[in-house]
Amino acid sequence: MAMAEGYFSSDETRAERVQNLFEVIAPRYDLINDLQSLWLHRYWKRRLVSLSNPSSGQRALDLCCGTGDVAFGLAAHGVEVTGMDFSRAMLEHAGERNSASEVTFQWGDVLNTELPDNHFDIVTIAYGLRNLADFEGGLKEMYRVTKPGGRMLILDFGRPTFGPWRWVYSTYLRWMVPVFGRVFCSDAPAYAYIHESLENYPAQDGVEKILWELDCSEVALHRILGSAMTINVGVK
Ligand SMILES: C[S@@+](CC[C@H](N)C(=O)[O-])C[C@H]1O[C@@H](n2cnc3c(N)ncnc32)[C@H](O)[C@@H]1O
Repeated sequence: MAMAEGYFSSDETRAERVQNLFEVIAPRYDLINDLQSLWLHRYWKRRLVSLSNPSSGQRALDLCCGTGDVAFGLAAHGVEVTGMDFSRAMLEHAGERNSASEVTFQWGDVLNTELPDNHFDIVTIAYGLRNLADFEGGLKEMYRVTKPGGRMLILDFGRPTFGPWRWVYSTYLRWMVPVFGRVFCSDAPAYAYIHESLENYPAQDGVEKILWELDCSEVALHRILGSAMTINVGVK
């Protein structure tokens, strides 16, 4: 159910609103992703998977897995993958795509996965961290479940450092992207959410700072399209 004031909130209703948002957009999520990114999100997710250095027999966890793009990308390398999300509608679409049952999709809150410590070789989150009520808590949970020597990877919208490009990008997210929500979901606030959530997210630099604080090694930042998208990597 959509809330009248929109989907973004920094108060205690945050998680509930995000859940409502994904219930509304789940049926059109994949289509809108393709259109608003000109199909480029597929390439960015492949890049995330490739930076995880996947190999057969490893265990991976894809948090905020949504409809499963990254989880399926990892599974294609012979990795045993668990995908976690708290939107039943998104998980339903992931399940429909999981014809070979290669991925285990699991309902759960990524801020408290209840998964064992030091368990996964690879832990990914794509376009998810920004949605959490506590992004630092999300990174701590990723770190907890990652094996020593395992890799954490975070793909999300970035904050371009070049002012004019930041303006163009921010204008696109603020004014153009909600049009996709209006046209395909009859719900412009659903896609206005992206811009709103970014205003309250410390983006690549904030993520990198926490990775260092968690004592990760090989901390690296991969910038895509002048930091419009970024991939942070850290090794536990
Ligand atoms: C923008 S989608 C990203 C989906 C997928 N990773 C992708 O890149 O296409 C964000 C996903 O995060 C999920 N999500 C947000 N907060 C969550 C939380 N606290 N626990 C579990 N899932 C969460 C939403 O339900 C949604 O499916």
